Amino acid sequence: MSTSFPLSLAPFGRTPEGQAVELYTLGDPAGPHACISTYGGTVTRLLVPDQRGQMGDVVLGFDALDDYLSEAYRQANPYFGALIGRYANRLARGRFALDGQHYQLATNNGPNHLHGGHRGFDRVVWQAEALPGSATEARLRLRYRSPDGEEGYPGNLQVEVTYRFGADLTLRIEYRASTDRTTPLNLTNHSYFNLAPGSPDVLGHELQLPAERYTVVDDTLIPTGELRPVNGTPMDFRRPHPIGARIGQVAGGYDHNWVLPDEPGLRLAARVQEPASGRRLEVYTDQPGVQFYSGNFLDGSLRGKNGVVYGRHTGFCLETQHFPDSPNHPQFPGTILRPGTEFHSVTEYRFGLIPGQ
Ligand code: BGC
Repeated sequence: MSTSFPLSLAPFGRTPEGQAVELYTLGDPAGPHACISTYGGTVTRLLVPDQRGQMGDVVLGFDALDDYLSEAYRQANPYFGALIGRYANRLARGRFALDGQHYQLATNNGPNHLHGGHRGFDRVVWQAEALPGSATEARLRLRYRSPDGEEGYPGNLQVEVTYRFGADLTLRIEYRASTDRTTPLNLTNHSYFNLAPGSPDVLGHELQLPAERYTVVDDTLIPTGELRPVNGTPMDFRRPHPIGARIGQVAGGYDHNWVLPDEPGLRLAARVQEPASGRRLEVYTDQPGVQFYSGNFLDGSLRGKNGVVYGRHTGFCLETQHFPDSPNHPQFPGTILRPGTEFHSVTEYRFGLIPGQ
């Protein structure tokens, strides 16, 4: 008889509008596992072993739905662990044009549109379905139908995200979307990682990004259009560097999109190693870019799981994505989804130990 990798669910509370929210656990709660809330499709917990076999929760977040719904959380707006859409990252002044028509979206980040607007995919309740798993992997499918005009975007968009987590300690996220009117689309997951849970910052984590160039941004974090070589700059992570080693040379800290090698299929987007715990994270994606964000805006106003205060640089994000503001930069890889075509993308967060340590 074959037993399948555990998957369980429990109620997680209700939204202010009365919608029931569930929390799914992929894996055995006593071992490696991932918890995903149907509110925002949010990864709330992700437990993987360190070099001594000790489990640790390597993502930032909360134990209770109310913390995700609180006014303090809305004010700080960190998007812990959530699915992001329709357009992850920024659109300059919330504007874009499609087939000769101009669209104006909400400007919820200074002059710009960020992460889908006031009520992005991080704040909606997704419909969940546990898919048949295997002996080594659990699968959860989430669906959301974003209606025509939502947050100003055109078309009814059907989005499907499948999370998988299994014995190989890989969190795999597969995105699919289709629309009945042409719309821009850029989907990602906004997990913040700290591979040494409880430690106050990630500045000692060693990061490697196999990117030759990054998108230069203006002071509101909108790309100027220039793809600048990382060579000779603090953006050069082609060989590993501690996150904190050169962060002081980057105004505001790291919050940029790196241009990944233009190769088909899944390829390495980032590798992070934390020497004290021995934990390692590798990110693989088929997307053209990755936003490395060093948690610059975490200001200590939120207290997360186990009472940890989330201050500046407590976690980092590696948001696999298309480049910011692509609809306004025709030379960037395209982000326009048309009716009759399907968007499909895969990102994997592969956890493990630093080899040979
Ligand atoms: C952005 C940051 C932003 C953060 C949380 C990241 O994806 O690049 O600028 O502060 O999300 O909102």
